[in-house]
Amino acid sequence: MKGIILAGGTGSRLYPLTKVTNKHLLPIYDKPMICYPLKLLIDAGIKDILIVSGRGHAGHFLELLGSGANLGVNFTYEIQDEAGGIAQALSLAEDFADDEPVTVILGDNVFEGSIREAVESFNGGAKIFLKEVEYAKRFGVAEIDGDKIVSIEEKPEKPKSNYAVTGLYIYDSHVFDIIKQLKPSHRGELEITDVNNAYISNGEMEYSIVDGYWTDAGTMESLFRANQLVRESRMGK
Ligand code: DAU
Repeated sequence: MKGIILAGGTGSRLYPLTKVTNKHLLPIYDKPMICYPLKLLIDAGIKDILIVSGRGHAGHFLELLGSGANLGVNFTYEIQDEAGGIAQALSLAEDFADDEPVTVILGDNVFEGSIREAVESFNGGAKIFLKEVEYAKRFGVAEIDGDKIVSIEEKPEKPKSNYAVTGLYIYDSHVFDIIKQLKPSHRGELEITDVNNAYISNGEMEYSIVDGYWTDAGTMESLFRANQLVRESRMGK
């Protein structure tokens, strides 16, 4: 299993915080944002990790994280020239993946629990991780029927459930063939939701519900909330 952190994009919803630095280098309580998804992958036992970032401030990721040797892991770096969407950023990881399965996490997602068991028991196809949220329309939203996922809608006006699709995905190597067949969405991006719906149509998608807290940190409100959640758990509240 290889790990991929997607830290491209423009961070426009956090402007002006992102005017002179990259969103994923902003602080969440006592660490830069990217350290949270990184720790999740390392704690799951993943040793080879690719970091995909945008062009702006790319050198700062290298300065912050280095080779990974001090953590006993290997970091590889890749540049996404333009913010062409999450699936487009993932397509850049094909050579790195080298036919192995991949655990993919968005660089602005913060999880409290561990994913070690899910990573170790992954058995082909794809797996996504859902969390019940109050305002589902801000996310990809899953319609579920028992242990099956019926479909996922990206930021629906009328969500069919309260289950947000978190920014954590496990895929087999088939994911790169699926991305090659995608067409850009109305916002001009290759959407990760279209990748997930392809796995659902093929009957190859599993899901589990996230234990512990989860949040993204891509808006002013969610960045603030991420700080609060991490601080509270550090203080043992
Ligand atoms: O956080 C979970 C949500 O993330 C999911 O529920 C949605 O289905 C998924 O589309 C995504 O929605 P967002 O609107 O939050 O995505 P955003 O454009 O903010 O990008 C999230 C991260 O993905 C960002 O921190 C870095 C990475 N990314 C994004 C884009 C658009 C890239 O690496 N390259 C990109 O071109």
